[in-house]
Amino acid sequence: MKEKVVLAYSGGVDTSVAIKWLQEKYNADVIAVTIDVGNERDFSTVRQKALKIGALKALVIDGKELLVKYFLFPALQANALYEGQYPLATALSRPLMAKLLVDTAMAEGATAIAHGCTGKGNDQVRFEVGINALAPHMKILAPAREWGMTREETIKYAQKHGIPIPVTKKSPYSIDVCLWGRAVECGVLEDPWAEPPADAYLWTKDPDKTPAKAQYIEIGFEKGVPVTLNGKEMDGISLIQKLNEIAGNHGVGRIDHIENRLVGIKTREIYEAPAAITLIQAHQALEAMTMSKDQLRFKQKVAVEISDLIYNGLWFSQLNRDLSAYVLSSQRYVSGTVRVKLFKGQAIVVGRKSPWSLYNLSLATYDKGDKFNQKAAEGFIHLWGLPVKTQAQVQLLGDKEGPLSIVGPAKAKGKKKK
Ligand code: ARG
Repeated sequence: MKEKVVLAYSGGVDTSVAIKWLQEKYNADVIAVTIDVGNERDFSTVRQKALKIGALKALVIDGKELLVKYFLFPALQANALYEGQYPLATALSRPLMAKLLVDTAMAEGATAIAHGCTGKGNDQVRFEVGINALAPHMKILAPAREWGMTREETIKYAQKHGIPIPVTKKSPYSIDVCLWGRAVECGVLEDPWAEPPADAYLWTKDPDKTPAKAQYIEIGFEKGVPVTLNGKEMDGISLIQKLNEIAGNHGVGRIDHIENRLVGIKTREIYEAPAAITLIQAHQALEAMTMSKDQLRFKQKVAVEISDLIYNGLWFSQLNRDLSAYVLSSQRYVSGTVRVKLFKGQAIVVGRKSPWSLYNLSLATYDKGDKFNQKAAEGFIHLWGLPVKTQAQVQLLGDKEGPLSIVGPAKAKGKKKK
């Protein structure tokens, strides 16, 4: 009996060639699986293409709802940004894909899962670590990593086997898309000094060409999850899509990142993530109002850890489970509304309110109604500064360089030549 292989199929040249290649090299029956994570494409054409090339079956799975519920919103609650910049769109979609590929492989009685990643990226790691975690006995095949063909050879192979290659001028970029953002790499972008050309962007307007007038929006959160936009209740998918549109129209969410890949390479990545960036900023503003200083500081550290493990393909680790439980718990009072001004490439929070707000006007005000006891400050400062005062008397005031030696001179003193 022929071996059955489930292939993660995007419809692009590499995964199309992979269908034929898996048949030739492994004499396998290929089941092409295309997962809709909000990449807005004509999935029936993709499906037909897989069948035409020779896939035994071609399935399209709508993963949008699962993506939002189990990956994007938890990442938002964590304020996950890899290296402080990248909202992790691609990285968040891969573990979901791994899960759906495994489910399909089990249901179809397949013994292997194949993906189209090369050996240089993060996605191969995310797919394989995910699949290994969920189905340790599943074989994994990575045709594009194995076949060692150049781009040209791949296209020749496609032509030889009658695999349709898009006739339209091929985009010079490698692009990956999900609801949380669009990742663009390759081509001229590989020169880190070169400004990304206009055609690298699709979701965001150049701030030169955005509306001359600012637009205000209101985002309502319930325990850290956005549930309303401008007062209207919305499901997560629609809210993200709408926000990508509105904020993208104002040029919000362009990211130009020199990124540290897991496989040791620095790359230049361009992202467009209008909804993700707007939501993270709004969410952070609401947290600032409803969480204590200590909670906020600790949560920032958790955000760094979570972002790294998502980026590094460790979604299914128990550390992720533990940290996610903390994040979820931290969101108990993160409910309320945030007002954001969208203008010329920026999403600026200009207002926030919450029934759980810790902002106390009678403590903060400099006007009438001030309840803050200014007298108490005196004793507070005495105790707060006591260790510094004690230490300075012993170790600082006697120093012959004087108190400024704490930082040292800006320029190192050279030894005088004799
Ligand atoms: N560098 C980003 C990441 O590792 C985006 C990768 C985009 N993938 C792609 N096949 N173009 O998450």
